[in-house]
Amino acid sequence: MPRHFLTGDELTGESLARLLDRALELKTDRRASDALAGISVALAFEKPSTRTRVSFEVGVTELGGTPVVLRADETQLSRGEPPRDFAQVLSRYVGAIGLRTGPHAVLDELAAHSAVPVFNMLSAEHHPCQALADLLTLKERFGSLEGLRLAYVGDGNNVARSLMLLGEKAGVEVAVATPAALAPEPVGAAALTTDAAEAAAGAHAVYTDVWFSMGDEDAIGKRELLAPYRLDEELLGAAREDAVALHCLPAHVGEEISEGVLYGERSAVWDQAENRLHVQKALLEWLVSG
Ligand code: CP
Repeated sequence: MPRHFLTGDELTGESLARLLDRALELKTDRRASDALAGISVALAFEKPSTRTRVSFEVGVTELGGTPVVLRADETQLSRGEPPRDFAQVLSRYVGAIGLRTGPHAVLDELAAHSAVPVFNMLSAEHHPCQALADLLTLKERFGSLEGLRLAYVGDGNNVARSLMLLGEKAGVEVAVATPAALAPEPVGAAALTTDAAEAAAGAHAVYTDVWFSMGDEDAIGKRELLAPYRLDEELLGAAREDAVALHCLPAHVGEEISEGVLYGERSAVWDQAENRLHVQKALLEWLVSG
C-alpha cells in the first residue's frame, strides 16, 4: 500500500514533528534534496489555484522531479472518467498524484485505486497541506508548537477542519469561532464557540479564511452572519501582544480581514504562503519514501 495524505490523519504526532523539522531544513537549503530524481508527479486541478499550483510545481522541480500539471478542462475527469480509472492509468506513468477537487469522496476513490501516493491539494472537507504550512509558520515564529493557542474565526470550512485535526497532533490548542449555522463538526479536543473575542483571547495566532469558497453564492446570507467574525485590529487586540494574524489566501479585504491586519506588521500571511513550498517538499519526500 502506498502512503497517502488525504486528511492529515495519516501522520502521527511524531511524524508530523519530523516533517516540520525537515521542512525547516529544506527552507534553509532549497536544493538539499533530490528525492524525486527521475520521478514525475501529476498535479490535477479541478478548481483554480495560485499558491498550491505554483508551490507544488516548483517544489517537485526543486526535488529533482518533473511536475505534470493537469487542469480540469484538460483531463477526461471533467467529462466523467471515473477517478478509479484515472488512478489506475496515472499510477502507470507517475510516482505520485495530487488532486484539488470538490467532494472528498473523489480523493478517497482515487487513493483506493492508486498504486502510487495520492495527496490532497484541497477538497471541500479538508485542506491539510495548508494546515502543514500554518503549523510551520507558527513553529518559526514561536520556536515550539506545544501549548500554543490558535484561534480560527469565520466560516467553519475545510481549513478550520484541517487546523483542528493537525493542530491537535502538533500539541496546539485550537479554538474555532463561527456563527452557529456555520459551525463545523468538532474534531478532537478543539473548542467550538460562537464568540470570536472569546476564541481570540490569549491566542498566539488569529486565523481567518475567505467567506465564500470558489464558485459559492451567498445563498444563506453568510455575509451578514459572518460580519462579526472579521479579523480586524480590535479582534487581533484580544489576542496576546505578540500574536500574529494568519490567512491562507486569497484574501478579500473588508470582508473576512481588514486591510490594516492583512498588510500590518503582525501579519504572518506572506511567510505562511511561502511555507507551502517548503513543507510540501518535506511531504513529498515522506510520501515517496514510504
Ligand atoms: N491557500 C490556497 O490553497 O491558495 P490557492 O487556492 O491559491 O492554491
